[in-house]
Amino acid sequence: MRLNLKTIVTLISVAIIGLIIVQMIWINSAIEVRKSQFDQDARNTLIEVTQLIPKVVQQNEQNRQIKSQKKLTSGVTDINALFDAMLDNTPFQKVSDKITSKQIDSLIKAQLQKRGINTSYVFGVYDVNAESLFEQDTATKKYTKQLISEGINLQFFVDNFTLKQPIISIFFPQKNRFIFKKMLFILSISLILILTVIYAFYFTVTTIHKQKQLSEIKNDFINNMTHELKTPISTIQLACEALNDKDMNSPESQQTFVAMINQENTRLSGLVETVLKTAILDKGQMKLKKEEVNLVEIIEQVKSKFSLKIKQLGGDISIASDLADMSFEGDEQHLTNVFQNLIDNAIKYTSEIPQIKISALKTVKDFVIKVNDNGIGISKENLNRVFEKLYRIPTGDLHNVKGFGLGLNYVKSIVELHGGTISVKSTKDKGSTFIISLPIENK
Ligand SMILES: Nc1ncnc2c1ncn2[C@@H]1O[C@H](COP(=O)(O)OP(=O)(O)OP(=O)(O)O)[C@@H](O)[C@H]1O
Ligand SMILES: [Mg+2]
Repeated sequence: MRLNLKTIVTLISVAIIGLIIVQMIWINSAIEVRKSQFDQDARNTLIEVTQLIPKVVQQNEQNRQIKSQKKLTSGVTDINALFDAMLDNTPFQKVSDKITSKQIDSLIKAQLQKRGINTSYVFGVYDVNAESLFEQDTATKKYTKQLISEGINLQFFVDNFTLKQPIISIFFPQKNRFIFKKMLFILSISLILILTVIYAFYFTVTTIHKQKQLSEIKNDFINNMTHELKTPISTIQLACEALNDKDMNSPESQQTFVAMINQENTRLSGLVETVLKTAILDKGQMKLKKEEVNLVEIIEQVKSKFSLKIKQLGGDISIASDLADMSFEGDEQHLTNVFQNLIDNAIKYTSEIPQIKISALKTVKDFVIKVNDNGIGISKENLNRVFEKLYRIPTGDLHNVKGFGLGLNYVKSIVELHGGTISVKSTKDKGSTFIISLPIENK
Protein backbone atom coordinates (compact mmCIF):
# COMPACT_ATOMS: atom_id res chain seq x y z
CA MET A 1 0.00 0.00 0.00
CA ARG A 2 1.38 3.39 -0.94
CA LEU A 3 0.72 6.01 1.69
CA ASN A 4 0.34 9.51 0.41
CA LEU A 5 1.18 12.61 2.39
CA LYS A 6 -2.43 13.33 3.37
CA THR A 7 -2.91 9.85 4.85
CA ILE A 8 0.32 10.11 6.80
CA VAL A 9 -0.59 13.53 8.15
CA THR A 10 -4.01 12.26 9.18
CA LEU A 11 -2.50 9.18 10.82
CA ILE A 12 0.05 11.22 12.77
CA SER A 13 -2.59 13.78 13.77
CA VAL A 14 -4.84 11.03 15.09
CA ALA A 15 -1.86 9.47 16.90
CA ILE A 16 -0.92 12.80 18.49
CA ILE A 17 -4.49 13.53 19.56
CA GLY A 18 -4.65 9.99 20.99
CA LEU A 19 -1.38 10.54 22.85
CA ILE A 20 -2.64 13.82 24.29
CA ILE A 21 -5.86 12.16 25.46
CA VAL A 22 -3.94 9.27 27.06
CA GLN A 23 -1.59 11.76 28.68
CA MET A 24 -4.53 13.73 30.06
CA ILE A 25 -6.18 10.60 31.44
CA TRP A 26 -2.90 9.62 33.02
CA ILE A 27 -2.37 13.06 34.57
CA ASN A 28 -5.94 13.04 35.84
CA SER A 29 -5.50 9.71 37.55
CA ALA A 30 -2.15 10.83 38.96
CA ILE A 31 -3.95 13.83 40.48
CA GLU A 32 -6.61 11.53 41.95
CA VAL A 33 -3.93 9.31 43.49
CA ARG A 34 -2.24 12.38 44.98
CA LYS A 35 -5.56 13.57 46.40
CA SER A 36 -6.36 10.30 48.07
CA GLN A 37 -2.82 10.07 49.40
CA PHE A 38 -3.24 13.56 50.80
CA ASP A 39 -6.52 12.58 52.45
CA GLN A 40 -4.89 9.48 53.89
CA ASP A 41 -2.06 11.56 55.32
CA ALA A 42 -4.55 14.00 56.83
CA ARG A 43 -6.48 11.11 58.38
CA ASN A 44 -3.29 9.63 59.84
CA THR A 45 -2.52 13.06 61.25
CA LEU A 46 -5.87 13.14 63.00
CA ILE A 47 -5.38 9.60 64.34
CA GLU A 48 -2.09 10.55 65.93
CA VAL A 49 -3.49 13.84 67.23
CA THR A 50 -6.47 12.09 68.85
CA GLN A 51 -4.12 9.61 70.45
CA LEU A 52 -2.11 12.46 71.94
CA ILE A 53 -5.11 14.49 73.18
CA PRO A 54 -5.86 12.30 76.25
CA LYS A 55 -2.24 12.61 77.33
CA VAL A 56 -2.35 16.39 77.10
CA VAL A 57 -5.69 16.38 78.96
CA GLN A 58 -4.16 14.26 81.68
CA GLN A 59 -1.18 16.56 81.94
CA ASN A 60 -3.49 19.58 82.16
CA GLU A 61 -5.47 17.83 84.92
CA GLN A 62 -2.33 17.17 86.95
CA ASN A 63 -1.27 20.77 86.63
CA ARG A 64 -4.67 21.95 87.77
CA GLN A 65 -4.70 19.64 90.78
CA ILE A 66 -1.32 20.92 91.89
CA LYS A 67 -2.64 24.45 91.58
CA SER A 68 -5.87 23.87 93.52
CA GLN A 69 -4.02 21.88 96.16
CA LYS A 70 -1.94 24.97 96.71
CA LYS A 71 -5.08 27.12 96.97
CA LEU A 72 -6.72 24.84 99.54
CA THR A 73 -3.66 24.52 101.69
CA SER A 74 -2.84 28.21 101.64
CA GLY A 75 -5.62 28.85 104.17
CA VAL A 76 -8.50 30.16 102.16
CA THR A 77 -11.03 32.15 104.11
CA ASP A 78 -13.21 33.42 101.33
CA ILE A 79 -16.07 30.95 100.82
CA ASN A 80 -16.37 31.74 97.10
CA ALA A 81 -12.75 30.96 96.47
CA LEU A 82 -13.14 27.71 98.30
CA PHE A 83 -16.10 26.80 96.13
CA ASP A 84 -14.14 27.60 93.00
CA ALA A 85 -11.26 25.47 94.10
CA MET A 86 -13.59 22.57 94.71
CA LEU A 87 -15.27 23.02 91.34
CA ASP A 88 -11.87 22.78 89.73
CA ASN A 89 -11.75 19.20 90.89
CA THR A 90 -15.13 18.16 89.63
CA PRO A 91 -15.26 15.84 86.63
CA PHE A 92 -18.10 17.69 84.81
CA GLN A 93 -16.10 20.21 82.91
CA LYS A 94 -16.44 21.00 79.23
CA VAL A 95 -13.86 19.76 76.70
CA SER A 96 -12.65 23.33 76.26
CA ASP A 97 -11.81 23.37 79.95
CA LYS A 98 -9.66 20.30 79.67
CA ILE A 99 -7.62 21.20 76.66
CA THR A 100 -7.26 24.47 74.80
CA SER A 101 -7.78 24.96 71.11
CA LYS A 102 -4.20 26.21 70.95
CA GLN A 103 -2.89 22.95 72.32
CA ILE A 104 -4.81 20.94 69.73
CA ASP A 105 -3.59 23.28 67.05
CA SER A 106 0.04 22.75 67.95
CA LEU A 107 -0.47 18.98 68.00
CA ILE A 108 -1.97 19.14 64.49
CA LYS A 109 0.73 21.46 63.24
CA ALA A 110 3.51 19.16 64.43
CA GLN A 111 1.89 16.10 62.84
CA LEU A 112 1.26 17.82 59.51
CA GLN A 113 4.82 19.03 59.41
CA LYS A 114 6.05 15.53 60.05
CA ARG A 115 4.17 14.45 56.91
CA GLY A 116 5.34 17.35 54.79
CA ILE A 117 1.89 18.92 54.45
CA ASN A 118 2.66 22.59 54.65
CA THR A 119 -0.55 24.16 53.45
CA SER A 120 -3.01 26.20 55.46
CA TYR A 121 -5.76 24.37 57.38
CA VAL A 122 -8.65 24.98 59.74
CA PHE A 123 -9.97 22.58 62.35
CA GLY A 124 -12.94 22.39 64.62
CA VAL A 125 -14.15 20.24 67.50
CA TYR A 126 -17.86 19.42 67.53
CA ASP A 127 -20.33 17.36 69.45
CA VAL A 128 -22.59 14.89 67.69
CA ASN A 129 -25.05 17.67 66.91
CA ALA A 130 -22.35 19.56 65.04
CA GLU A 131 -22.21 22.24 67.76
CA SER A 132 -18.76 23.65 68.14
CA LEU A 133 -17.18 22.84 71.51
CA PHE A 134 -14.64 25.62 71.27
CA GLU A 135 -15.00 29.27 70.70
CA GLN A 136 -14.38 29.70 66.98
CA ASP A 137 -12.10 32.25 65.41
CA THR A 138 -13.10 33.95 62.15
CA ALA A 139 -11.19 31.53 59.89
CA THR A 140 -12.90 28.53 61.44
CA LYS A 141 -16.28 30.25 61.29
CA LYS A 142 -15.77 30.95 57.59
CA TYR A 143 -15.23 27.26 56.83
CA THR A 144 -17.78 25.79 59.28
CA LYS A 145 -19.85 24.35 56.44
CA GLN A 146 -16.90 22.70 54.74
CA LEU A 147 -15.53 21.45 58.05
CA ILE A 148 -18.76 19.63 58.74
CA SER A 149 -19.53 18.38 55.22
CA GLU A 150 -16.14 17.93 53.50
CA GLY A 151 -13.62 17.92 56.36
CA ILE A 152 -11.76 14.81 57.41
CA ASN A 153 -13.11 13.93 60.82
CA LEU A 154 -12.60 11.53 63.63
CA GLN A 155 -14.32 10.86 66.93
CA PHE A 156 -11.97 10.87 69.90
CA PHE A 157 -11.65 10.00 73.52
CA VAL A 158 -10.99 12.84 75.98
CA ASP A 159 -10.86 11.16 79.38
CA ASN A 160 -12.80 8.79 81.57
CA PHE A 161 -15.08 11.56 82.80
CA THR A 162 -16.28 12.71 79.44
CA LEU A 163 -18.58 10.07 78.16
CA LYS A 164 -19.80 11.78 75.00
CA GLN A 165 -17.03 11.55 72.48
CA PRO A 166 -16.45 14.75 70.52
CA ILE A 167 -15.50 14.89 66.85
CA ILE A 168 -12.46 16.67 65.48
CA SER A 169 -12.58 17.80 61.87
CA ILE A 170 -9.86 19.26 59.69
CA PHE A 171 -10.23 21.03 56.36
CA PHE A 172 -7.62 22.32 53.89
CA PRO A 173 -8.99 25.29 51.90
CA GLN A 174 -6.03 25.23 49.49
CA LYS A 175 -5.75 21.49 49.07
CA ASN A 176 -6.06 21.54 45.24
CA ARG A 177 -3.48 24.26 44.93
CA PHE A 178 -1.08 22.36 47.18
CA ILE A 179 -1.47 19.18 45.13
CA PHE A 180 -1.11 21.10 41.88
CA LYS A 181 2.11 22.67 43.17
CA LYS A 182 3.48 19.27 44.09
CA MET A 183 2.72 18.06 40.55
CA LEU A 184 3.90 21.16 38.78
CA PHE A 185 7.17 19.62 37.66
CA ILE A 186 5.64 16.56 36.05
CA LEU A 187 2.81 18.62 34.57
CA SER A 188 5.17 21.08 32.93
CA ILE A 189 7.35 18.28 31.55
CA SER A 190 4.24 16.69 30.01
CA LEU A 191 3.21 20.01 28.53
CA ILE A 192 6.67 20.69 27.09
CA LEU A 193 6.82 17.20 25.56
CA ILE A 194 3.40 17.56 23.98
CA LEU A 195 4.24 20.98 22.59
CA THR A 196 7.56 19.69 21.25
CA VAL A 197 5.88 16.82 19.45
CA ILE A 198 3.24 19.14 17.97
CA TYR A 199 5.86 21.66 16.88
CA ALA A 200 8.10 18.96 15.36
CA PHE A 201 5.12 17.56 13.51
CA TYR A 202 4.10 20.96 12.22
CA PHE A 203 7.67 21.66 11.15
CA THR A 204 7.97 18.34 9.33
CA VAL A 205 4.67 18.77 7.51
CA THR A 206 5.43 22.32 6.39
CA THR A 207 8.90 21.26 5.24
CA ILE A 208 7.51 18.36 3.23
CA HIS A 209 4.87 20.65 1.79
CA LYS A 210 7.48 23.24 0.80
CA GLN A 211 9.71 20.58 -0.73
CA LYS A 212 6.80 19.26 -2.72
CA GLN A 213 5.93 22.71 -4.00
CA LEU A 214 9.55 23.35 -4.85
CA SER A 215 9.85 20.15 -6.82
CA GLU A 216 6.65 21.02 -8.72
CA ILE A 217 8.01 24.47 -9.48
CA LYS A 218 11.32 22.98 -10.61
CA ASN A 219 9.53 20.52 -12.87
CA ASP A 220 7.57 23.38 -14.40
CA PHE A 221 10.77 25.27 -14.94
CA ILE A 222 12.48 22.32 -16.64
CA ASN A 223 9.45 21.81 -18.88
CA ASN A 224 9.38 25.48 -19.78
CA MET A 225 13.08 25.59 -20.41
CA THR A 226 13.14 22.49 -22.63
CA HIS A 227 10.24 23.86 -24.57
CA GLU A 228 11.99 27.20 -25.04
CA LEU A 229 15.23 25.48 -26.08
CA LYS A 230 13.51 23.15 -28.52
CA THR A 231 12.23 25.92 -30.82
CA PRO A 232 15.58 27.56 -31.63
CA ILE A 233 17.30 24.18 -31.87
CA SER A 234 14.85 22.85 -34.41
CA THR A 235 14.88 26.13 -36.33
CA ILE A 236 18.68 26.00 -36.52
CA GLN A 237 18.53 22.37 -37.58
CA LEU A 238 16.09 23.19 -40.38
CA ALA A 239 18.21 26.11 -41.55
CA CYS A 240 21.31 23.90 -41.61
CA GLU A 241 19.49 21.26 -43.66
CA ALA A 242 18.35 23.96 -46.07
CA LEU A 243 21.90 25.25 -46.40
CA ASN A 244 23.04 21.75 -47.24
CA ASP A 245 20.34 21.41 -49.87
CA LYS A 246 21.85 22.17 -53.27
CA ASP A 247 18.49 23.35 -54.69
CA MET A 248 18.28 26.16 -52.19
CA ASN A 249 21.80 27.35 -52.56
CA SER A 250 21.15 30.79 -54.02
CA PRO A 251 23.16 33.53 -52.23
CA GLU A 252 19.94 35.32 -51.05
CA SER A 253 18.45 32.27 -49.40
CA GLN A 254 21.83 31.43 -47.91
CA GLN A 255 21.87 34.85 -46.29
CA THR A 256 18.34 34.41 -44.93
CA PHE A 257 19.23 31.08 -43.36
CA VAL A 258 22.42 32.40 -41.83
CA ALA A 259 20.48 35.36 -40.38
CA MET A 260 17.92 32.91 -39.02
CA ILE A 261 20.61 30.80 -37.38
CA ASN A 262 22.19 33.91 -35.94
CA GLN A 263 18.90 35.15 -34.50
CA GLU A 264 18.04 31.81 -32.94
CA ASN A 265 21.52 31.56 -31.55
CA THR A 266 21.14 34.94 -29.86
CA ARG A 267 17.90 33.71 -28.34
CA LEU A 268 19.61 30.56 -27.09
CA SER A 269 22.44 32.45 -25.47
CA GLY A 270 19.89 34.83 -23.94
CA LEU A 271 18.17 31.88 -22.29
CA VAL A 272 21.43 30.43 -21.02
CA GLU A 273 22.39 33.88 -19.77
CA THR A 274 19.18 34.15 -17.74
CA VAL A 275 19.80 30.84 -16.01
CA LEU A 276 23.46 31.57 -15.41
CA LYS A 277 22.65 34.99 -13.96
CA THR A 278 20.33 33.41 -11.43
CA ALA A 279 22.93 30.83 -10.51
CA ILE A 280 25.52 33.54 -9.95
CA LEU A 281 23.03 35.60 -7.91
CA ASP A 282 22.26 32.51 -5.84
CA LYS A 283 25.88 31.98 -4.94
CA GLY A 284 26.15 35.63 -3.93
CA GLN A 285 28.94 36.13 -6.45
CA MET A 286 27.26 38.90 -8.41
CA LYS A 287 29.55 41.94 -8.61
CA LEU A 288 28.11 45.33 -9.58
CA LYS A 289 30.01 47.66 -11.85
CA LYS A 290 29.00 50.88 -10.19
CA GLU A 291 29.23 54.19 -11.97
CA GLU A 292 27.34 57.45 -12.04
CA VAL A 293 24.11 56.77 -13.96
CA ASN A 294 20.97 58.78 -14.58
CA LEU A 295 17.93 56.75 -13.55
CA VAL A 296 15.50 58.80 -15.67
CA GLU A 297 17.66 58.22 -18.73
CA ILE A 298 17.77 54.49 -18.13
CA ILE A 299 13.99 54.36 -17.78
CA GLU A 300 13.57 56.43 -20.97
CA GLN A 301 15.82 54.03 -22.88
CA VAL A 302 13.93 50.98 -21.69
CA LYS A 303 10.66 52.70 -22.54
CA SER A 304 11.77 53.36 -26.11
CA LYS A 305 12.68 49.67 -26.51
CA PHE A 306 9.11 48.70 -25.69
CA SER A 307 7.37 51.62 -27.42
CA LEU A 308 6.86 49.86 -30.73
CA LYS A 309 5.46 46.73 -29.15
CA ILE A 310 3.04 48.73 -26.99
CA LYS A 311 1.95 50.83 -29.95
CA GLN A 312 1.22 47.67 -31.91
CA LEU A 313 -1.01 46.53 -29.05
CA GLY A 314 -2.74 49.93 -29.07
CA GLY A 315 -1.53 50.72 -25.56
CA ASP A 316 0.37 53.52 -23.95
CA ILE A 317 3.41 53.98 -21.73
CA SER A 318 4.20 57.22 -19.92
CA ILE A 319 6.85 58.52 -17.57
CA ALA A 320 6.01 61.19 -15.03
CA SER A 321 8.92 62.86 -13.37
CA ASP A 322 9.76 66.45 -12.58
CA LEU A 323 13.36 65.46 -12.05
CA ALA A 324 15.64 66.02 -14.98
CA ASP A 325 18.53 64.53 -13.12
CA MET A 326 18.38 61.45 -10.98
CA SER A 327 22.06 60.73 -10.61
CA PHE A 328 22.65 57.46 -8.95
CA GLU A 329 25.67 55.34 -8.21
CA GLY A 330 24.74 52.03 -9.81
CA ASP A 331 25.29 49.33 -12.41
CA GLU A 332 23.77 50.54 -15.67
CA GLN A 333 23.34 47.13 -17.29
CA HIS A 334 21.62 45.52 -14.31
CA LEU A 335 19.41 48.56 -13.64
CA THR A 336 18.36 48.48 -17.29
CA ASN A 337 17.45 44.80 -16.88
CA VAL A 338 15.44 45.65 -13.75
CA PHE A 339 13.13 48.10 -15.57
CA GLN A 340 13.04 45.87 -18.61
CA ASN A 341 11.75 43.00 -16.48
CA LEU A 342 9.12 45.15 -14.80
CA ILE A 343 7.80 46.61 -18.07
CA ASP A 344 7.95 43.20 -19.73
CA ASN A 345 5.74 41.83 -16.94
CA ALA A 346 3.39 44.82 -17.16
CA ILE A 347 2.81 44.02 -20.84
CA LYS A 348 2.71 40.24 -20.40
CA TYR A 349 0.28 40.06 -17.53
CA THR A 350 -2.63 42.00 -18.91
CA SER A 351 -5.71 40.89 -20.74
CA GLU A 352 -6.52 44.40 -21.94
CA ILE A 353 -4.76 47.13 -23.85
CA PRO A 354 -1.67 47.89 -21.76
CA GLN A 355 -1.61 51.27 -20.01
CA ILE A 356 1.69 51.58 -18.20
CA LYS A 357 2.52 54.54 -15.99
CA ILE A 358 5.98 55.05 -14.59
CA SER A 359 6.71 57.71 -12.02
CA ALA A 360 9.99 58.76 -10.48
CA LEU A 361 10.45 61.06 -7.52
CA LYS A 362 12.96 61.95 -4.90
CA THR A 363 12.33 61.83 -1.15
CA VAL A 364 14.73 62.91 1.57
CA LYS A 365 16.71 59.72 1.43
CA ASP A 366 15.52 57.77 -1.61
CA PHE A 367 14.67 57.75 -5.27
CA VAL A 368 11.26 56.16 -5.58
CA ILE A 369 10.26 54.64 -8.90
CA LYS A 370 6.80 53.21 -9.42
CA VAL A 371 5.73 51.04 -12.33
CA ASN A 372 1.97 50.82 -12.58
CA ASP A 373 -0.08 48.70 -14.96
CA ASN A 374 -3.74 47.93 -15.66
CA GLY A 375 -3.12 44.20 -15.80
CA ILE A 376 -4.63 41.12 -14.23
CA GLY A 377 -3.35 42.01 -10.77
CA ILE A 378 -2.00 39.70 -8.11
CA SER A 379 -4.11 38.12 -5.39
CA LYS A 380 -3.16 38.74 -1.76
CA GLU A 381 -1.78 35.28 -1.08
CA ASN A 382 0.58 35.58 -4.04
CA LEU A 383 1.80 39.10 -3.33
CA ASN A 384 4.78 38.02 -1.29
CA ARG A 385 5.54 35.00 -3.40
CA VAL A 386 6.08 36.65 -6.78
CA PHE A 387 9.62 37.55 -5.73
CA GLU A 388 10.49 33.92 -5.01
CA LYS A 389 12.73 32.21 -7.47
CA LEU A 390 10.90 30.16 -10.13
CA TYR A 391 7.52 31.12 -8.70
CA ARG A 392 4.81 31.74 -11.28
CA ILE A 393 1.19 32.35 -10.47
CA PRO A 394 -1.03 29.79 -12.17
CA THR A 395 -2.84 32.27 -14.43
CA GLY A 396 -5.82 30.38 -15.81
CA ASP A 397 -6.78 31.90 -19.15
CA LEU A 398 -3.36 33.56 -19.54
CA HIS A 399 -1.76 30.16 -19.27
CA ASN A 400 0.14 30.51 -22.51
CA VAL A 401 2.18 33.47 -21.23
CA LYS A 402 5.76 32.33 -21.28
CA GLY A 403 8.24 32.83 -18.50
CA PHE A 404 10.49 31.11 -16.03
CA GLY A 405 9.58 32.90 -12.83
CA LEU A 406 13.08 34.30 -12.60
CA GLY A 407 12.44 37.94 -13.56
CA LEU A 408 11.19 39.42 -10.29
CA ASN A 409 13.62 37.37 -8.24
CA TYR A 410 16.45 38.88 -10.26
CA VAL A 411 14.93 42.37 -9.96
CA LYS A 412 14.71 42.04 -6.18
CA SER A 413 18.29 40.80 -5.86
CA ILE A 414 19.66 43.63 -7.98
CA VAL A 415 17.66 46.28 -6.11
CA GLU A 416 18.90 44.87 -2.82
CA LEU A 417 22.49 44.78 -4.04
CA HIS A 418 22.08 48.52 -4.61
CA GLY A 419 20.90 48.88 -1.00
CA GLY A 420 17.29 49.44 -2.02
CA THR A 421 13.95 47.73 -1.51
CA ILE A 422 11.11 46.60 -3.75
CA SER A 423 7.47 46.07 -2.88
CA VAL A 424 4.26 45.52 -4.76
CA LYS A 425 0.71 46.73 -4.33
CA SER A 426 -2.00 45.11 -6.35
CA THR A 427 -5.72 44.58 -6.70
CA LYS A 428 -6.89 41.51 -8.54
CA ASP A 429 -8.21 42.36 -12.02
CA LYS A 430 -7.40 46.07 -11.56
CA GLY A 431 -3.62 46.23 -11.91
CA SER A 432 -0.38 46.28 -10.01
CA THR A 433 2.20 48.80 -8.90
CA PHE A 434 5.80 47.79 -8.27
CA ILE A 435 7.61 50.28 -6.08
CA ILE A 436 11.39 50.47 -6.03
CA SER A 437 13.25 52.73 -3.68
CA LEU A 438 16.97 53.25 -4.07
CA PRO A 439 19.02 55.16 -1.50
CA ILE A 440 20.42 58.46 -2.79
CA GLU A 441 23.52 57.96 -0.69
CA ASN A 442 24.72 54.63 -2.06
CA LYS A 443 28.32 53.89 -1.27
N1 LIG B 1 2.65 43.19 -13.47
C1 LIG B 1 2.19 41.99 -13.08
N2 LIG B 1 0.84 41.79 -13.04
C2 LIG B 1 0.36 40.59 -12.64
N3 LIG B 1 1.12 39.53 -12.31
C3 LIG B 1 2.45 39.67 -12.35
C4 LIG B 1 3.05 40.91 -12.75
N4 LIG B 1 4.40 40.74 -12.68
C5 LIG B 1 4.61 39.49 -12.29
N5 LIG B 1 3.47 38.82 -12.10
C6 LIG B 1 3.32 37.44 -11.62
O1 LIG B 1 4.48 37.08 -10.93
C7 LIG B 1 5.09 35.92 -11.48
C8 LIG B 1 6.58 36.04 -11.40
O2 LIG B 1 7.05 37.04 -12.25
P1 LIG B 1 8.49 36.93 -12.84
O3 LIG B 1 8.77 38.13 -13.67
O4 LIG B 1 9.41 36.63 -11.74
O5 LIG B 1 8.44 35.64 -13.75
P2 LIG B 1 7.88 35.43 -15.22
O6 LIG B 1 7.45 36.73 -15.80
O7 LIG B 1 6.86 34.38 -15.13
O8 LIG B 1 9.13 34.83 -15.96
P3 LIG B 1 10.47 35.58 -16.42
O9 LIG B 1 11.53 34.87 -15.68
O10 LIG B 1 10.54 35.36 -17.86
O11 LIG B 1 10.33 37.02 -16.02
C9 LIG B 1 4.58 35.85 -12.90
O12 LIG B 1 4.52 34.51 -13.35
C10 LIG B 1 3.18 36.47 -12.78
O13 LIG B 1 2.28 35.47 -12.43
MG1 LIG C 1 8.85 38.40 -15.81
